[in-house]
Amino acid sequence: MPKMTFILKDGSHKEVDAPLGLSVLEIAHRHGVDVEGACEGSLACSTCHVIVDQEDYERISDATEDEEDMLDLAFGLTHTSRLGCQIVMTEELDGLTVTLPAATRNMMVDKG
Ligand code: FES
Repeated sequence: MPKMTFILKDGSHKEVDAPLGLSVLEIAHRHGVDVEGACEGSLACSTCHVIVDQEDYERISDATEDEEDMLDLAFGLTHTSRLGCQIVMTEELDGLTVTLPAATRNMMVDKG
């Protein structure tokens, strides 16, 4: 089974199983990771905002215009921001790493 890593708001890393076909939001919820996802994946909020690792970002299919519109409203938007409910796990995304928005500064420290 693929795995993915969440970088939590305190900067700690949490690696979890990432079943194929589940969204990053659903995977977060399964593992008690604090991603809100207020609209449960219907592209009507931006509370599932996650920041994708640069390398991974290129592996994920492009955001739709609707997703881009919602992302514009997200707090702490970055150039690799995506909505977690729109990233669906595939074999190719094994090892995906995403950061919860409040940990952005820590991510930069991690990358040295
Ligand atoms: S959960 Fe609302 S847009 Fe993703």
